[in-house]
Amino acid sequence: MQIAFLMAKSRRAVALLSLILVLPAGALGAAHPEAERGSGGAVASAAPAATAAGLEVLRTGGNAADAAVATALALAVVRPRAGNLGGGGFAVTRFGSEVRTLDFRETAPAQATHDMFLDEQGEPRSGASLIGPLAAGVPGSPAGLYELHNELGQLPWAKVVAPAIRLARDGFTVDRRLALGTKQYADLLGRFPETAAVWLPDGQPPEAGSTMRLPELAATLEAYAERGALAITEGPIAAAVELAARLHGGVLRAEDMAAYRPVWREPVRFEAFGWQVASMPLPSSGGIILGQTCGLLERLEWAKFSRFGTDRYHLLVEVWRRAYADRVLLGDPRTSLASAVQLLAPEWLDFRADRIRLANATPSERVRKWSADLVPESPETTHLSVMDGDGNAVSMTTTLNGTFGCGLLVPGAGFLLNNEMDDFATAPGQPNLYGLIQGEANSVGPGKRMLSSMTPTIAWRGNKVVVIGSPGGSKIPTATAQVLLNLIVDGDELQAAVDRARVHHQWMPDVVFTEAHALSPETAKALERRGHELRPVASLGEVHSVWGEIGGKMGAAQDPRGPGEAGIVNPAVD
Ligand code: DON
Repeated sequence: MQIAFLMAKSRRAVALLSLILVLPAGALGAAHPEAERGSGGAVASAAPAATAAGLEVLRTGGNAADAAVATALALAVVRPRAGNLGGGGFAVTRFGSEVRTLDFRETAPAQATHDMFLDEQGEPRSGASLIGPLAAGVPGSPAGLYELHNELGQLPWAKVVAPAIRLARDGFTVDRRLALGTKQYADLLGRFPETAAVWLPDGQPPEAGSTMRLPELAATLEAYAERGALAITEGPIAAAVELAARLHGGVLRAEDMAAYRPVWREPVRFEAFGWQVASMPLPSSGGIILGQTCGLLERLEWAKFSRFGTDRYHLLVEVWRRAYADRVLLGDPRTSLASAVQLLAPEWLDFRADRIRLANATPSERVRKWSADLVPESPETTHLSVMDGDGNAVSMTTTLNGTFGCGLLVPGAGFLLNNEMDDFATAPGQPNLYGLIQGEANSVGPGKRMLSSMTPTIAWRGNKVVVIGSPGGSKIPTATAQVLLNLIVDGDELQAAVDRARVHHQWMPDVVFTEAHALSPETAKALERRGHELRPVASLGEVHSVWGEIGGKMGAAQDPRGPGEAGIVNPAVD
């Protein structure tokens, strides 16, 4: 069967132009035409070469799991600041009517301790949880992506890894974002000679338009294609991880790599505005925040308020203020001080909704987190989205945490290690990289998974399926929620829903972050009058999304905030 591969290049030009001229519109309406549709599947990711890898796999008979893994592995080559083998992530899958989630989040190494990031005075040691291998959790991606394919894929494993090998071995074109990123982070990359040798050739960041070849990463991927996860989690590559970590003061060991296991978990499930939604459970807070957002907004009759008006934004902020206050109780499911069941309990949502006032902002310091006493007696980093021609779906977010992770590349293996340890509450009460204040439930402990905000999500109603998620640290659940609400409450087309300008609030700091044009000047003034402090930011999240009807047409949208690409497979065209 010949299948057309349609990349909406013209949409990208329009998107870029609109970013410059009007910015992705919220109040002003969506700026871009709807993506083209096809019935053979759809892929959206943060890089054109990665989307192409996913589409190639769909075209050669792969399903959504095969395509998601191929896309993720290609991102590990062309988007080293976030795509990864040295990091971890989460995936939500829907195959037929079965919905599952795969947790391949990093874990703390066996030698990690509660106070490992504090000095003798109990003060945080600057940069310790961010830079160098002490900041690295045990990578989950090698075993996680392999497991996803093993369980749900249908093509031979080597075929799924092949596009990434090709990109690493034959080379790929450095895009503007990668050139800019390596320039901006040259200090971090230059700290470790192992990293500089690959990413600062001749001491300089690669130029946009130049060809980058990554032979060590290609060799790692070849071994991975031949022997699966064990090629990385045991043997010479795991030994190289340990050696690199030891040389730079890390506690990550080969035994940690061998002991790592991904975990299939029951999704956070809820109904919102007539749609079924499945999202990520702990150790991500994403699904709980999304569930609280939708549950509270329904109770507050949010859909009835005028779109882009002050009331809607005010209520969004009040809801997120409370959801992020509850987030302080969350952590690894084994140590979390609250569960999805508690935080999504109708009684808790009623209690919260009753205390939200339309006229005034509640100062964040007055919002108490969930406690059993408060509940009335009878009483809760790069993202990719894929659908195949059968309507099976994978929503996957993976990350190194910070840009280029901890900065250390494992010599011989060619991948960067994450700095996910900073997602733990490394110093209680102190904000992390994303300004999040976190609690004891999320303290460092050997083998623990650090709390995440990643929100890979699949929503469906009847035959219609939406696959979404975002990078952006603490901003992930709110970016995901807004796009979902644009679709399921306001009936936007997919591209319009993704384009619209967004806002964000996370309890602390008590500030509403706003993209340009999210709020009209009148709405902004009115929100200030209700007691909200507004702070403009360049962008919030990067939502790559696909949608479609099972047995019908599918569409894909790339977020104009990034250089991603969306594409579809259209068996009817050629
Ligand atoms: O798991 C988390 O919530 C963070 N490590 C995600 C980091 C992220 O999204 C960075 N990308 N912008």
